[in-house]
Amino acid sequence: MTNIMFISLGCDKNLVDSEVMLALLQEKGYGITNDEKEADVCVVNTCCFIGDAKEESIENIIEIGKLKDLAGKKNNDPSSDNGHRLKALIVTGCLAQRYQKEIFKELPEVDAVLGTMSIESIVDAVDSVLAGHKYECFTELTHLPSIKDKRSIASGTYMGYLKIAEGCNKRCTYCIIPYVRGNYRSVPMEEVIQQAKHLVDNGIRELCLIAQETTLYGVDIYGKKCLHELLRELSKIDDLHWIRLLYCYPEEITDELIDEIANNPKVCHYIDMPLQHSEDSILQRMGRKTTKQEIIKRIKSIREKIPDIVLRTTLITGFPGETETDHQNLMVFIDEMEFGRLGAFTYSAEEGTPAALMEGQIAEEVKEKYRDEIMELQQEISYDINQKQVGRILEVIVDGYIYSDEMYACRSYMDAPDIDGMVFVRSEEELLSGDFIKVRITGCNEYDLIGEMI
Ligand code: F3S
Repeated sequence: MTNIMFISLGCDKNLVDSEVMLALLQEKGYGITNDEKEADVCVVNTCCFIGDAKEESIENIIEIGKLKDLAGKKNNDPSSDNGHRLKALIVTGCLAQRYQKEIFKELPEVDAVLGTMSIESIVDAVDSVLAGHKYECFTELTHLPSIKDKRSIASGTYMGYLKIAEGCNKRCTYCIIPYVRGNYRSVPMEEVIQQAKHLVDNGIRELCLIAQETTLYGVDIYGKKCLHELLRELSKIDDLHWIRLLYCYPEEITDELIDEIANNPKVCHYIDMPLQHSEDSILQRMGRKTTKQEIIKRIKSIREKIPDIVLRTTLITGFPGETETDHQNLMVFIDEMEFGRLGAFTYSAEEGTPAALMEGQIAEEVKEKYRDEIMELQQEISYDINQKQVGRILEVIVDGYIYSDEMYACRSYMDAPDIDGMVFVRSEEELLSGDFIKVRITGCNEYDLIGEMI
């Protein structure tokens, strides 16, 4: 059997694209492998969001290129059999889209390149490279690939990402994504539902809704924001237990959406709301469409209607022109807002973005100092919040078993997969990944909770 190996880098949106490409390849009879010695073709689905992501993508391409060389040596001299058989390397995703003219030139080990909206051409790309031809495809960024039931889901997986839109219209001055993913396009509601049903039929119990921005869902195709309606429709899927909202913009959160989160028992009381900063002068230079006052008002109204809501945010430190006073004001804002979950990242100047050309670029060590101070403060806030959970009874989903600690790793509604904390649970009873159980919280540390099954 001809086997394909996949390396999926970058964000959960990219992961969904990988799962779609995997499904298309499996449908055509290709095998999938994680073993580099069994791979005939390797696909690297890349990211280019910040410098580190670009480097990671390029390093992966170079490493896979070396495997091709090893297989080539074996072909030329069969006595030096090293077990490798890799014939071709395909690069897809955001780095491929952004550097479409450079990839073949700078990385000659690459045999095919696909842009972000060309994932439906993956089978053609594999067929071509196996026939010894170079291949490239860059579909217009106005195209929206049709996913429907084309998703490869690993067995035993119970959490899945549901991409409800592609692209972004916001043009934040630091962000490269609109240039590699195009303008905002919502996936028609019937297609989202079809995709969700397919995921649930295949064992998924928790769906995380994703897009560059989920809160704008529907505006382009239905003329109004209808994320709340989508949530209501999704919650009608019988075996779906939790729906979680990621990537919400504060200024786009409607009262209808807050009411739906408050009243729909399947929607987790959790909102991921990347704010990037609190200070108006920085928000303005970032091209954000909101103000500190509006953000505070929004957070208050969400908390009034949903007292147990967990708000997650992400912040950027060291944006061009950020002063010590801006940073101190941001620290006060964090202290007052008490976000349940928070991540801070240093600003990375990306070529081709307006912010990269702004005056007042900040030294790397200052960006890192600001980030570290924020994360230290958040650690204290997070510990206080976790202590308040002790004694509470929470429903959790079992993620897996940690043999060394003889404990189950679980998550409550407060924790998104991969980015948030865990609830560690001891249980005499054997539990399976994907089980939902009730636990009493008995202890905590800064980021995780400890509980016992009841
Ligand atoms: Fe995601 Fe990286 Fe592309 S964050 S959208 S894979 S640039």
